[in-house]
Amino acid sequence: MNYHRLIVLTGFMGSGKSALGSKVASRTGAAFRDLDDEIEKLEGKKIRDIFREDGEDYFRQLERTCLNQLLSVKPLVLALGGGAFAQPEIRSRITAHDGVTVFLDVPVQTLFERLKRNTNRPLLLDDDGQMPDDDRLMKRIRELLAQREPVYRKADITVTVKPGWTHEQTTEEILKHL
Ligand code: S3P
Repeated sequence: MNYHRLIVLTGFMGSGKSALGSKVASRTGAAFRDLDDEIEKLEGKKIRDIFREDGEDYFRQLERTCLNQLLSVKPLVLALGGGAFAQPEIRSRITAHDGVTVFLDVPVQTLFERLKRNTNRPLLLDDDGQMPDDDRLMKRIRELLAQREPVYRKADITVTVKPGWTHEQTTEEILKHL
């Protein structure tokens, strides 16, 4: 398959944007970039350290800066961080580049299982940087997801990922919609 439009994956933390993005890229012959990886490269530090040392507003600015730099790469599959699509400026830059946006709608239980194993998500951690217990983690995921969902629904395509689907199955489903 040869696909020339910019493809942008959005969705909550843990929805598989990066893993699926790289699979979609190899199937479409496009380059793959992950916005968070680009930010870490540019700043020379981890996302959680950027949040801790420089604050969230600075991180959001980096999302805009790195997106602008990446838009010259063509053809491209881009995995956004879970909050990037909530920025109107990011959505309009993607539209201006004729990007097709894909929301990965993953069941909350699956998100929880994945996120509980990972501590590089500053928005989910307690103020002291520790992982919250399961109940509080689930509460945070649900709250943030409720806030974000209306934004994710603005994507051109929604792929509803069924519990138990492998990344290969989800990749096929994404490709069907492109
Ligand atoms: C964030 C999601 C993260 C990362 C940062 C903020 C968010 O990306 O950009 O921790 O606001 O949802 P992933 O969705 O790749 O975890």
